[in-house]
Amino acid sequence: MTTEQSYDSKSIYYHWISALLIFLLWIIGQNIDSFERGDPRVIVRSIHIMLGLILALVFILRLTWKFTGARKLAPSDDGVMGKIATGTHHLLYLLMAATIILGIVAVWVRGDNIFNFFTVPAFDPSNEDLPDDVVDFHGLLANSLLILAGGHSLLAIWHQRIIKDGLLKRMWPSLK
Ligand code: HEM
Ligand code: HEM
Repeated sequence: MTTEQSYDSKSIYYHWISALLIFLLWIIGQNIDSFERGDPRVIVRSIHIMLGLILALVFILRLTWKFTGARKLAPSDDGVMGKIATGTHHLLYLLMAATIILGIVAVWVRGDNIFNFFTVPAFDPSNEDLPDDVVDFHGLLANSLLILAGGHSLLAIWHQRIIKDGLLKRMWPSLK
């Protein structure tokens, strides 16, 4: 175990800001349709889109940092568990990218009214199925991301609380 080391502070900020935004985006995304049509729904959907664009920016900064200056840590385990952890991290990055891209494509394909302030025209207004399909696919990716991130979080807590190897400290150095 190489748990004495921790990620650098920039990587840690990016990790926790991304996790918080993803959680908020998922909660808002799940509840958009429960708001009344008209202004309430436009505002909630616009907040979702704005937070999504902030996440897109954070994601680009995070990846750029990962490939240019981020501290690289060896997997926490030398065997198959370490390989599974690294594979899971790659899949999390892939799902984050795919969910963000499909969210942006959803706005572009369906067209949207952002805060009643400006309008994104629909890509092809005559095609009624495509926007629903894209939003459904975006929702499916978002759910998959949440499930995988949930498993990843539980494993991190399990390491910290049950195995007591201090793995969580790699992402949270001030933790005792
Ligand atoms: C990882 C980040 C994101 C998560 C977890 C997420 C989650 C969700 C969820 C769960 C839904 C509901 C899907 C459904 O009803 O089947 C949704 C809808 C939507 N999302 Fe996202 N989203 C994310 C990023 C984005 C981004 C970056 C954009 C665009 C910039 C975006 C735009 C939309 C739009 C336009 C809808 C449709 C809203 C509606 O039903 O009226 N999302 N999102
Ligand atoms: C949406 C939520 C989350 C996402 C998308 C996510 C994603 C990631 C990714 C991609 C990495 C790999 C970082 C790298 O090496 O570049 C990572 C590492 C890590 N995450 Fe998360 N994470 C989330 C939530 C959490 C939560 C809630 C916890 C703790 C309860 C957590 C604990 C950790 C730890 C301890 C590491 C370092 C693991 C190691 O070095 O082997 N993550 N996370």
